[in-house]
Amino acid sequence: MLELNNVEVIYSEVILAVKGVSMRISEGQCVALLGGNGAGKSTTLKAISNVIKTEDGRVTSGNIQFNGKRIDNQDAVDIVDTGIIHVMEGRRVLRHLTVEQNLIIGGHKETSLRAVRQRLDEVYSRIGRLAALKDRTSGYLSGGEQQMLVIGRAMMARPKLMLIDEPSLGLAPLMVDEVFAVLKSLKDAGVTLLVV
Ligand SMILES: Nc1ncnc2c1ncn2[C@@H]1O[C@H](COP(=O)(O)OP(=O)(O)OP(=O)(O)O)[C@@H](O)[C@H]1O
Ligand SMILES: [Mg+2]
Repeated sequence: MLELNNVEVIYSEVILAVKGVSMRISEGQCVALLGGNGAGKSTTLKAISNVIKTEDGRVTSGNIQFNGKRIDNQDAVDIVDTGIIHVMEGRRVLRHLTVEQNLIIGGHKETSLRAVRQRLDEVYSRIGRLAALKDRTSGYLSGGEQQMLVIGRAMMARPKLMLIDEPSLGLAPLMVDEVFAVLKSLKDAGVTLLVV
């Protein structure tokens, strides 16, 4: 499903962040990407979703393919349309909006309110905690709840492949279990996962 061949990423034309990364992920797999601080894990995810472009980064050699088609340096919006959704590091909720408003934004591709409602129902059935919190201001949620929210928001966009950067960072062990249970449920639903 996803293939990286000898990918090199350079920021600002001079900073070499990733060199010679190759990997292959089949549909339905859950793959962990491990490495020390500064090894280039986040950059690798950002190269796949092409968020590196916003940081003046670029894939300068090698290639990235999704279902057989080259996606390196494609527009990030088009990459989202192909079904790759990136949950970035740091639990970036829209702090002043409620949980449900955050989720609705994740469903921006849908063309009818009814379809958005269906997506919401599916997210709430997979992440029961979000249903209970739906009217709460997201900025006041706990770290684990915010992590579940950003994963839920990504689910709203009907991902085929979800890229998730450090979902357990700084969470209490019980919360880590709960977040990983959500990932398991996503995998059971057929979503392919690449987890840093
Ligand atoms: N926007 C940027 N501009 C310039 N250099 C960057 C940028 N982002 C990351 N880097 C550099 O690229 C290298 C890889 O960083 P990256 O964030 O991908 O590592 P990481 O494996 O995710 O690390 P961590 O475990 O700390 O999250 C580092 O040397 C970092 O300083
Ligand atoms: Mg990182």
